[in-house]
Amino acid sequence: MTEVSPNWNEFYGQEVATKLSFFSKEGRIYDCLFSQQFDRALLDRMFAVADKMRRIAQTKEGADFLSSLLSHKRAMLYFVQPSTRTFLSFLNACHILGLKASEIRDTNTSSEIKGESPEDSVRTFSSYVDLIIMRHPVPGFVEKTAWVMNRAKRPVPVINGGSGKDQHPTQALLDVYTLTSCLKDGVDGKTIVMVGDLKRGRTVRSLSYLMKNYKGVRLIFVSPPQLKMERDILDFLSRHLIPYRETDSLEPVLREADAIYMTRIQDEHDTAGESRNVDYSKFCLRTQDLAVIKKTCIIMHPLPRRDEIELTVDEDDRAVYWRQERNGMWARAALIAHIFRVEDQILKRA
Ligand code: CP
Repeated sequence: MTEVSPNWNEFYGQEVATKLSFFSKEGRIYDCLFSQQFDRALLDRMFAVADKMRRIAQTKEGADFLSSLLSHKRAMLYFVQPSTRTFLSFLNACHILGLKASEIRDTNTSSEIKGESPEDSVRTFSSYVDLIIMRHPVPGFVEKTAWVMNRAKRPVPVINGGSGKDQHPTQALLDVYTLTSCLKDGVDGKTIVMVGDLKRGRTVRSLSYLMKNYKGVRLIFVSPPQLKMERDILDFLSRHLIPYRETDSLEPVLREADAIYMTRIQDEHDTAGESRNVDYSKFCLRTQDLAVIKKTCIIMHPLPRRDEIELTVDEDDRAVYWRQERNGMWARAALIAHIFRVEDQILKRA
């Protein structure tokens, strides 16, 4: 681990690339905070571990083996922003590997209501558990927790389950796992169309970062003009020579797509109702669009959805979003196995 500034604001202001070593140990991810922490070799290894765990867990003997691996560890799920699938998939990933899990989902029921700072709250968790998995509405707070924990007397790894509008790296992990497993010949060379509120969508931001690991990928961003992908992501793509284009018209690009990644409007991030007047109906996938898209194209969504995918689309074999959310449990279990260094035991099991 590198020497770091003891001043949080100074540390936070640094480029992500310069901070990554602080969140690693012996060349491995210790705190999972950013998509930029994953390289291709690690992604492929995670997916191999996830695939292997799925197979092992099909028998009671196999499931018992998996749940013995980390039965001496405890995890804290601190999710103080709403979540269904990230919370449940992490909780069940912990169960698969035998970790005992505690949770706080509402600061009204913790001592934060008595005036305890969030920083002191997370420090308290480290007295009891061996892993903190968290979702927090404040950008940078998950990173701050990892910064605090890494400098504490009893360091505890931290996983980012969604942080403000900025990153959702384990969603990106499961998204690429889904792309890899559902697209013929994998992600290389594919055209991925991301649709919706790209400005405030932390899933599309994190997924865009991961594209640096794949060759010949093209991205098409389809959004209302007010909700375009942010400049920092576009600059990242340019620096990594990943071609992209932006449009506010979905229909003309549908037939180019190998994968369509739909997202809902993220109006929980409105500060003054700024998305109230956005016509989101143009950023929806309907049954009639199924006749236009490639036979091999997959349709993804991080979920939850509102109206941006018609319910009838669910019946089409190309709609993989329910598989995608199940993949999340296995991808997250693979990540936890990596952090606690038990993935070799999983891969070696006959
Ligand atoms: N995709 C996702 O983060 O879903 P939840 O908000 O339900 O966790």
